[in-house]
Amino acid sequence: MNLLVADEQPYEDSDTTFYRVLQPGLDVTHGPILYLDDISVSFDGFKALNKLTLTIDAGELRCVIGPNGAGKTTMMDVITGKTRPDSGTAFFGQTIDLTKLSEPQIAEAGIGRKFQKPTVFERHSVFENLELAMKADKRVQTTLFAQLDSAQQDRIADTLRMIGLNEHAARLAGRLSHGQKQWLEIGMLLMQEPKLLLLDEPVAGMTDEETARTGELFLTLAGAHSLIVVEHDMDFIAQIARRVTVLHEGSVLAEGTLSAVQEDERVVEVYLGR
Ligand SMILES: Nc1ncnc2c1ncn2[C@@H]1O[C@H](COP(=O)(O)OP(=O)(O)OP(=O)(O)O)[C@@H](O)[C@H]1O
Ligand SMILES: [Mg+2]
Repeated sequence: MNLLVADEQPYEDSDTTFYRVLQPGLDVTHGPILYLDDISVSFDGFKALNKLTLTIDAGELRCVIGPNGAGKTTMMDVITGKTRPDSGTAFFGQTIDLTKLSEPQIAEAGIGRKFQKPTVFERHSVFENLELAMKADKRVQTTLFAQLDSAQQDRIADTLRMIGLNEHAARLAGRLSHGQKQWLEIGMLLMQEPKLLLLDEPVAGMTDEETARTGELFLTLAGAHSLIVVEHDMDFIAQIARRVTVLHEGSVLAEGTLSAVQEDERVVEVYLGR
């Protein structure tokens, strides 16, 4: 069963409370969860994105690679509402026009973003970080001082296991390794139940072992979540790659399996052959 499908209810029912609690209007019945079409973004005349068109399927794990300045981070800025495109359309599911929503509204609609630098609450425990992330979620009916109910405790326990930090629940976040902090931040994102996760260079600065474990985590998350992963670490990409998109000068240069794009002459020339 595809958990992402907006529960077989017709779109006309989208203003019922039941529907909104379950999925705030996200309709992926046609397959894709994200449509970017003909997106352009200029900074002082320089085209950071140039007619970028990209579609991500629900449950997909998509890798996006490409040289420095290709527009990878700018693409994530457009998806999350940080940067408005000059032209083009960006839809989340069939019906949510991302170009019309604010950054907080986009986060609430179910798009979570992980920046490169971990931003955890260093003076709080690992457990408390997840608890705070859950309580920051506007859809959760609770206050900062409310006791956790057992369902909420279970959710935190599940997330701790998933991110490999269940033995570190009581530890201060500030005491974690760089890689563990990254996992904690991913866990904090997961507490908000995002449907689409954007991860910009998630394994930068990690040890090889942490990198491999992060790959396993992403493979576990795919399916129930959709992921867009931007990375320069090609060993990591090889570990997780399904469909790979190569960006160059603000548009898609190539797309396909990793081996297909690795064999593409143009990709070798602008990126992999360096
Ligand atoms: N706010 C901004 N103002 C001006 N120029 C910008 C801005 N953001 C990005 N750019 C420019 O747009 C281009 C694309 O940048 P972007 O950060 O999206 O590339 P990237 O693919 O993420 O590169 P990297 O692999 O180095 O992270 C770059 O030339 C960058 O200098
Ligand atoms: Mg970048």
